[in-house]
Amino acid sequence: MNVYDSERMADLLRPHGYRAVEAAENADLIILNTCHIREKAAEKVYSELGRLKQLKEAGNAAGRNVKIVVAGCVAQAEGAEIKSRAPQVDMVFGPQSYHHLPEYLARSSRLLDEAVETEFDVEEKFDSLDNAIAPRTVTGPAAYVTIQEGCDKFCTFCVVPYTRGAEVSRTADEIVNEVRLLSQQGVREITLLGQNVNAWMGPAPRGETWKLGDLCRHLALIDGIDRIRFTTSHPRDMDQGLIDAFADEKKLMPYLHLPVQSGSDKVLKAMNRGHTAAEYLDIINAVRKARPDIAISGDFIVGFPDESDADFEQTLKLVEEIEYASAYSFKYSRRPGTPGAGMPKQVAETQKDSRLARLQAVLEAQKTRFNQSQIGQTLPILFEKTGRHDGQLIGRTPYLQSVHAKAPESMIGSIELVYIKDATPNALSGVLQKDSEAVA
Ligand code: 5AD
Ligand code: SF4
Repeated sequence: MNVYDSERMADLLRPHGYRAVEAAENADLIILNTCHIREKAAEKVYSELGRLKQLKEAGNAAGRNVKIVVAGCVAQAEGAEIKSRAPQVDMVFGPQSYHHLPEYLARSSRLLDEAVETEFDVEEKFDSLDNAIAPRTVTGPAAYVTIQEGCDKFCTFCVVPYTRGAEVSRTADEIVNEVRLLSQQGVREITLLGQNVNAWMGPAPRGETWKLGDLCRHLALIDGIDRIRFTTSHPRDMDQGLIDAFADEKKLMPYLHLPVQSGSDKVLKAMNRGHTAAEYLDIINAVRKARPDIAISGDFIVGFPDESDADFEQTLKLVEEIEYASAYSFKYSRRPGTPGAGMPKQVAETQKDSRLARLQAVLEAQKTRFNQSQIGQTLPILFEKTGRHDGQLIGRTPYLQSVHAKAPESMIGSIELVYIKDATPNALSGVLQKDSEAVA
């Protein structure tokens, strides 16, 4: 979502004469878009601000007027602290206020107004980011579209409900319009974004209420859109309508990111996840029944307070049962203001390290197995950009794996059949089917 938000900030500023540059050294306006989900990410902001301070001083000494803006969730949570720890920062914007950037820049050229803006009106933001005001600039055939923001789930480890606010859905009309405009600019794949994307719902044209499955089916009707994805989902919001869409809407790609965090019911309860390990397994089984080849991905946290060795073994057991195609796993990070931070029996860092290493070894082996299972198959690849080597393009399989193949640049934006020849844990490589036939 931060990638999308950063693109939208650039879209907002473009009509005011700004354009993106490759290196911060060359920028008159530097926006640091930040993440607060774990301590490491938040701490990086301050070290980066130290580096940017030097750039600002050098730029100003050369007669420029360099401004530094901090945006995103660290800005939301630590606005005042940023201003006092890093006085080189001119402005702090929470993720719900960045649509005010142009106004701030216009104002600050007249009076030096230093402020912290962390208001919470998401609907106003969605309105201000309407295409008429900030037309989207497309950078390739695959694009993100935010359809929902915020979270009402309050997992006890997580800052998102505090930094991004309550769940709000964009209207179906706005989303359909944005996707239509994207398709007219050559976009063929859209990824619908939301902190709880499958909690999305909205009034539909005939007065009924659409859920995410309905939205996907309607977006699939838009000419030029061939692939639809969404992320991130919550197990509690996986309704049958969405599962059915995986069975019969062929444009919905066979990939589901469904975080579980832990395989222990005791830990899941303490995390306030609202489901058990067995219920999660049932959902995965139902999804696999609808779409047998679906690639499953997940998020895991090790070392949540009071997680015992036996609890951790339950997580490994669940992972073995599911067989993930990919996954993200993290050590529990105490976030200020969340219930987890104050819980007794915090787990020692060394314990977290060894559990994470064991979990990641299993997940990495599963990912490698999944990638290797594609060798010998011919898959439709949407080519997105040129690769590192001459004559090579990079694209994605329906299962979201990266693929390298020799192909002409004119194929960027088209979906081509590629015969998969090789796999590493992180990518596949292959040859265009027509080339492989020529060789045969
Ligand atoms: N510590 C570690 N990981 C966290 N996540 C969210 N909050 C924390 C935390 N306090 C992870 C969860 C979530 C992903 C986006 O980040 O796994 O699904
Ligand atoms: Fe955070 Fe996701 Fe839980 Fe919401 S559902 S509190 S975003 S982990």
